[in-house]
This record gives sequence, C-alpha cells and structure tokens, in this order.
Amino acid sequence: MLSPAALGVFVLAASEGIAAAQPQSIAIQSRVTPKGHTTGLRRRALPALGVPLDNFFLGTDLQWFGNISVGTPPQDVSVVFDTGSFTLEFATDECTSCTQANKFVRSQSSTFVAGNTTRRLSFATGVGVDPVVNNDYVLTVKTATDSVTIGNITTENLSLFTIIDQTPKFNIDPFLGIQGLGASAQGIFAALEEQGLPSLFSMFLTPNAVGNAELLLGGINDTQFDGDLVFTSVEDASHWQTIASGIFINNQTTSLLQTPLTVIFDSGTSNIVFDDDIVDAMNALISPSIRPFSAEPGAFGLPCDEIDSLPAVIDMTFTAQDGTPFNLTIPSSELNVGPFESDPSTCQTLINSFPGLNVVGGSVLKHYYSVWDIGNQRLGFAPNGE
Ligand SMILES: *[C@@H]1O[C@H](CO)[C@@H](O)[C@H](O)[C@H]1NC(C)=O
Ligand SMILES: *[C@@H]1O[C@H](CO)[C@@H](O)[C@H](O)[C@H]1NC(C)=O
Ligand SMILES: *[C@@H]1O[C@H](CO)[C@@H](O)[C@H](O)[C@H]1NC(C)=O
Ligand SMILES: *[C@@H]1O[C@H](CO)[C@@H](O)[C@H](O)[C@H]1NC(C)=O
Ligand SMILES: *[C@@H]1O[C@H](CO)[C@@H](O)[C@H](O)[C@H]1NC(C)=O
Ligand SMILES: *[C@@H]1O[C@H](CO)[C@@H](O)[C@H](O)[C@H]1NC(C)=O
Ligand SMILES: *[C@@H]1O[C@H](CO)[C@@H](O)[C@H](O)[C@H]1NC(C)=O
Repeated sequence: MLSPAALGVFVLAASEGIAAAQPQSIAIQSRVTPKGHTTGLRRRALPALGVPLDNFFLGTDLQWFGNISVGTPPQDVSVVFDTGSFTLEFATDECTSCTQANKFVRSQSSTFVAGNTTRRLSFATGVGVDPVVNNDYVLTVKTATDSVTIGNITTENLSLFTIIDQTPKFNIDPFLGIQGLGASAQGIFAALEEQGLPSLFSMFLTPNAVGNAELLLGGINDTQFDGDLVFTSVEDASHWQTIASGIFINNQTTSLLQTPLTVIFDSGTSNIVFDDDIVDAMNALISPSIRPFSAEPGAFGLPCDEIDSLPAVIDMTFTAQDGTPFNLTIPSSELNVGPFESDPSTCQTLINSFPGLNVVGGSVLKHYYSVWDIGNQRLGFAPNGE
C-alpha cells in the first residue's frame, strides 16, 4: 500500500515555489515575521495552546491531524498540521465531491463571508495508498473569511480557503483539510502571535501504537521528551530547512552521502524524499534487491519476504547552533511502509525520490519531540519520551 505517501501535502508546499511543478502559487496574508523578531513582548503572553492529535494510520503512520474550530457558533474542522505549507483550507458543504463526514456548513456560521477568488491546486503525488497517476489529485479552493478558534483563543475574520471540489483520491482522508504552519508566521499563527502567543510551536508526533500525539502552539512540553533539546538554525523562512552534513546507512556512507545538502522538515509528508542520486546511494547501502516501482514513479520496493530482516538504520547528521554535530536517526523498523496495492508481494520502502528535493517527514519526526521556533528561526529536537 502507500503511494509516495502523503506527499500530497508536501506538494501543496510546492505550490508556493519549492518545485517547478504544476501547482499555482497562492499568496494570502504574507505577514512575515522577520528573523529574530519577537512579537508580543509588549503584551501579556498568551498561555500555550495544546491540540490533541489523531494518527492517520493505514498500516503505517501517515499524518497527524486535530481539530480547530471555525465559525459562529464554532464547528469542529479536522486538519493536518502541515509545516510544509502556510494556508488553511478545508471542505465545506459546497463541495459535493468531498465525501468526508462532518463538512463545514457555511450557512450555520453567522460570521462566514465567502470570497470571490478560486484557485486550482494540482498535486503531483497523492495522499492515499493508490498508485499516483498524473493530475488525479486536484483541489479547487475559494477564498473566504471567518472566525477561527484554537484552544480558547478566537481570531475573527481570518482569511482562509474553502475546498469546493476535490478529485476522488482525496476521499480517503479522515480529515477535512490542511492547516499550514510554515517557517514564517502567517495566517492563524500570525494572528495568535499578535494576540501574544510566543512565536514557536512544538510537535509530539508519536507512532500509532503510542498515541497521545499533540501540537502545542506557543510552548514546549518538557514532559514529552527525554534529555535536552538540540537546536539547529533554519536557513531562511521560506521553508523549515536546514543543512545536513551527511547521511549514514547502517554506519556506512559514501562521498556523495557526505556532501552537505539542504533538507526540508515537513510534518505533512510521511516518508522521506531525496534527490534521485542520493536515493540510489542510500538504497545501494541497504540492499541490491531494492528496485524502482514502475507503477509509482519515485517509489521503491523489494520482495516483502526480504524487507523485514534488513537492517536499515538511517543517521542524518546536522549541526547544532553551538557547532557540534548531532544525528537524527530513523530505525530499521521504518523501512517497510507496506505492500503496494497493485503488487502485494512487493513492499515499499520509506525512501522516495523526487528530483532536486530533500524532504523528511513523519518517519523521522515521530521519533523526536520537535520545536519549530519561528521567532528565532531554529528547529529543536530531543528523543520522544513515551
Ligand atoms: C504535557 O504533556 C503531558 C503528557 O503527555 C500532558 O498530559 C499535558 O496535558 C501536556 N501539557 C500541555 C500544556 O499540553
Ligand atoms: C475532533 O472533534 C470531533 C467531534 O467534532 C471528535 O469526535 C474528535 O475526536 C476530535 N478529534 C481530536 C483529535 O480531538
Ligand atoms: C465579490 O463579488 C460581489 C458580486 O459578485 C461583489 O459585490 C463584491 O464586491 C466582490 N468582493 C470582492 C472582495 O471582490
Ligand atoms: C484560556 O485558558 C487558559 C488556561 O487553560 C487560561 O489561563 C486563559 O486565561 C484562558 N484565556 C481566555 C481568553 O479565556
Ligand atoms: C475582514 O477582513 C477583510 C480583509 O481581509 C476586510 O476587508 C474586512 O473589512 C474585514 N471585516 C471585518 C468585519 O473586520
Ligand atoms: C561505525 O564505523 C566506525 C568507523 O568506520 C567505527 O569506528 C564504529 O565502531 C562503527 N560503529 C558501529 C556501531 O558499528
Ligand atoms: C552519526 O551516525 C554515524 C553512523 O552511525 C556515526 O558514525 C557518527 O559518529 C554519528 N555522529 C554523531 C555526531 O553522533
């Protein structure tokens, strides 16, 4: 099962300019918090807002989603909290092609105001488990404004997008939409910051069997990790990206894998995605049996009866702000993300390729507590406490 999993959300980020892919760029509310800027110092700080998260699990952890509420009176809207994008979009009753339950009902919100602008967002890869065929992941969205509540804090008149049409591939989603949490404060996060929320958020993205996943906006929950957080600088506020100085597989490496590369951290991607040459080098150190899966370009697989016995510890080395190197480690248990639907004897690996991109998602994030510090443009990690 599993397409180049949940890359859909990542590729939405591409609509803002990562890849020269089909998606159009959408620009709303570009209130960028400059590097080092500390908002809210002059007002009383808001206490941190915790949002419990559920796991979208289909044999493997795909994404983590939770509720915000929208409208007056508030309606629960379930969203993926996606560090690879910036905007809020969700399905409403206007979307007859959206088959998810509990869509947002516009007429039941006295504060909902529909806008006039529509956009099409084409996804290069899918969210679900089927092989991806070009252009069958498309969302049509429309501008609107309404009140949005997270925890007990309401922001009035927030610009957002409603999904008015989606292709059937999205119907598998157990959530209504996506809440972007990119590396500059925009949309709801900028609004919360203006109300005094500290300019950072933390993610406790646990494996399905562990549960209790949580997003904490404006704070760090030190009961959810072991030891100290290690921070690395974010390169620029367009994405949560930093430099990896090298990659090891089972303690082995190559000169290509020791060439520094820019890596984007994306909570909306479940697998890890690297440029083709990097993927070939990594695969070669895992097993000669790993082959491209032709029905899903960018996905790789090997016989299911071989995969679970393979060691595949992936260490990625980053540099802490004090100059010392540290590793983020993906254990061998992540290698197998499940059988391909069209070929159940072949199991997909967690490593996908995408030309020119290096993106890591849930496969690594679920082993660490992560702090996404917008105000100080840095990312912090500590091993998940469980
Ligand atoms: C911090 O984590 C603990 C353990 O998961 C949880 O019970 C508590 O509610 C969390 N606190 C906040 C403020 O989110
Ligand atoms: C979201 O709200 C719905 C009710 O509207 C509830 O059933 C669900 O458990 C909530 N999800 C989370 C992750 O809190
Ligand atoms: C949207 O369209 C309506 C009429 O169709 C018009 O009255 C309104 O001014 C437009 N609003 C914006 C923001 O363009
Ligand atoms: C929100 O809840 C927190 C405690 O959970 C409380 O300290 C704060 O005053 C509340 N804020 C508002 C605006 O009610
Ligand atoms: C809501 O925001 C829009 C711009 O985003 C502005 O034109 C409008 O006046 C605002 N409405 C209210 C009620 O504040
Ligand atoms: C990893 O490799 C280095 C050098 O090749 C060696 O010194 C070290 O013992 C190895 N560690 C493990 C855990 O195999
Ligand atoms: C990172 O992992 C590699 C491979 O296991 C190891 O050789 C290296 O010493 C580790 N680096 C750090 C800083 O722990």
